[in-house]
Amino acid sequence: MRLSQYLLPTLKENPAEAQIASHRLMLRAGLIRQEAAGIYAWLPLGLRVLRKVERIVREEMDRAGAVELLMPTLQLAELWRESGRYDAYGPEMLRIVDRHERELLYGPTNEEMITEIFRGYVHSYRSLPLTLYQVQWKFRDEQRPRFGVMRGREFLMKDGYSFDLDEASARRSYQRMFVAYLRMFARMGLRAIPMRAETGPIGGDLSHEFIVLAQTGESAVYCDQALLELPVPGADVDYGGELDALIAPWTAPYAATEDVHDAARFECEVPLERRVLARGIEVGQIFYYGTKYSLPMKALVTGPDGVERPVHGGCYGVGVSRLLGAIIEACHDEQGIVWPEAVAPYRVGLVNLKVGDARSDAACAAIQARLAQAGIEVLYDDTDERAGAKFAKMDLIGLPWQLIVGPRGLEAGTVELKQRAGGERRELSVEAALAALGAAP
Ligand SMILES: Nc1ncnc2c1ncn2[C@@H]1O[C@H](COP(=O)(O)OP(=O)(O)O)[C@@H](O)[C@H]1O
Ligand SMILES: [Mg+2]
Repeated sequence: MRLSQYLLPTLKENPAEAQIASHRLMLRAGLIRQEAAGIYAWLPLGLRVLRKVERIVREEMDRAGAVELLMPTLQLAELWRESGRYDAYGPEMLRIVDRHERELLYGPTNEEMITEIFRGYVHSYRSLPLTLYQVQWKFRDEQRPRFGVMRGREFLMKDGYSFDLDEASARRSYQRMFVAYLRMFARMGLRAIPMRAETGPIGGDLSHEFIVLAQTGESAVYCDQALLELPVPGADVDYGGELDALIAPWTAPYAATEDVHDAARFECEVPLERRVLARGIEVGQIFYYGTKYSLPMKALVTGPDGVERPVHGGCYGVGVSRLLGAIIEACHDEQGIVWPEAVAPYRVGLVNLKVGDARSDAACAAIQARLAQAGIEVLYDDTDERAGAKFAKMDLIGLPWQLIVGPRGLEAGTVELKQRAGGERRELSVEAALAALGAAP
């Protein structure tokens, strides 16, 4: 992609309304634009990152055996009256009336609708377990939308829902999602720690919030240092097998958000030098809710004994759009964003220091073609800005690699390859630089 034909509205100054680094950098790097409080347009560069995050989420959900579908953003109020939540939900729900005076709402979550879909088709234990998920926009009329995409009103969520015959089986579905979550966040370059969270009226130990530690996080969290060092399960994890042994090291050490924190237990279980008191960003939450929806909404399945019973459910949320904020909080420096390779909008930024110089233009065109051939995504700065501004922009948008091409280097037969993380620079021949990026001759 040529920058001269792109839309990349970067800002030199810090926008006054942004209080935290990720919000500032998302605005400055031209990733998002605020359209109303808590409502954002995704500009081209931001959309590319959003799509990459989505892709990782989907790959790990699919690997764990979940099945994707897509539900509408608008839902009938009637459906929410069945579960009793229409009145209970309060002012966070955006309620809409259509031209026929039918009451609709913009979905803040989808337990009712997925239960309605499930009960329309599934009636036997033979079809279980079943985990369905979607990646869809949600609307919650938050009292205080803030920190950009961290707490928006319209935001993108991956929401998954499991269906099982009984609690024991539901526990296994929960465990599969637990492992999938560990993997997906790690693939994005994040360490997300599962922490015990409020379970509501059902009780039990089956709710975890996945928390990324960050000074700007909204909640206070407490955990054992051991959780910061645990290796994440590999891609070869057997989701059909027993997951207890994989999960135990993650659930045994103390980890709790402020809502469920027990100071006495914390101090008793965790030696002083391993106590982590920090702030965190909730990037996901998983939850077993049993028959909370299936009972009132009559989602019944027949067991092997021929007896009908309400299906056992769990829900599994990931804040897809919030994740961009969380990744930037974890991966930035004074100059700007430092994208992890897996979610970077482009892998390479190609900088032409002297547009209009025949030799530089030709070298850049050739490099761009070679990178494209190798399937390496490249953003080519072919604008006539001065070098300093180009460097600052590249650092700000945080692509993992910068390939800098100018007449002086070409004279000596070299280009410069800079790694954004760490800032290491190397003078290399064009061929050596291409090889370093994985574009073989
Ligand atoms: N207002 C919001 N803006 C951005 N992401 C959100 C927002 N609310 C929730 N999320 C994300 O969606 C995930 C699932 O939502 P859920 O747990 O139901 O939300 P909450 O914890 O706010 O009740 C959360 O873990 C979080 O990452
Ligand atoms: Mg939550």
